[in-house]
Amino acid sequence: MKIDVLTLFPEMFHGVFGHSILKKAEERNFATYHVHNFREFSKNKHQKVDDYPYGGGAGMVLTPQPIFDAVHHLTKDMEKRPRIILMCPQGEKYTQKKAEELAGEEHLIFICGHYEGYDERIREFLVTDELSIGDYVLTGGELASMVIIDSVVRLLPGVLGNEESAPCDSYSSGLLEHPHYTRPTDFNGMKVPDTLLSGDHKKIEEWRRKESVRRTFLRRPDLLENRELTEEEKKWLKE
Ligand code: ADE
Repeated sequence: MKIDVLTLFPEMFHGVFGHSILKKAEERNFATYHVHNFREFSKNKHQKVDDYPYGGGAGMVLTPQPIFDAVHHLTKDMEKRPRIILMCPQGEKYTQKKAEELAGEEHLIFICGHYEGYDERIREFLVTDELSIGDYVLTGGELASMVIIDSVVRLLPGVLGNEESAPCDSYSSGLLEHPHYTRPTDFNGMKVPDTLLSGDHKKIEEWRRKESVRRTFLRRPDLLENRELTEEEKKWLKE
């Protein structure tokens, strides 16, 4: 997967792709990352990228020219149109389902504004997706794009060492993960549940499913709204 990021603050990305799973993904040729300053595409003699809003009002608006030209530069030799993703608080709320969808793409381009608005023609005629990472306003789209890139790259086949670890994640199954324990069995009087030490794999599996359903019900009941509970799961919730 090729990932391009358009931003006025490329320094914010320094180091982000150079650690842990994102780094490994690049080393193993599953992903490449390219960060571009779209100011370099400005045709204005002072390399301006924003201007006052028509109709008046506070704040500045990012002009279409540098962003259209930057995207054109990145896509001109491409046969397939990539996903062009605009980071903004008014976009579609980002979810694990969207991460899975984006992980199926070959090329993603992220457009990150910073404090300012976008000229509406960018939304209307250039981008394929507008994404928000949550109902709060950041100073810019950079951090939000990092969140999305991280969550997409880890889903690329082969990136995670243990192939099983992705599907069991919270959200992939529609449920939150069950609790985990490791050594020691007794930490200052705080004990590991007996079932996990029993060696009975069927019982352990049932305990985990039960805790997963219970935890989801208590913490994120909204996730259960789109998921029919089995009779057994309903029984667990009454226990
Ligand atoms: N830019 C500013 N706030 C944002 C948010 N919540 N999600 C995505 N991009 C943003």
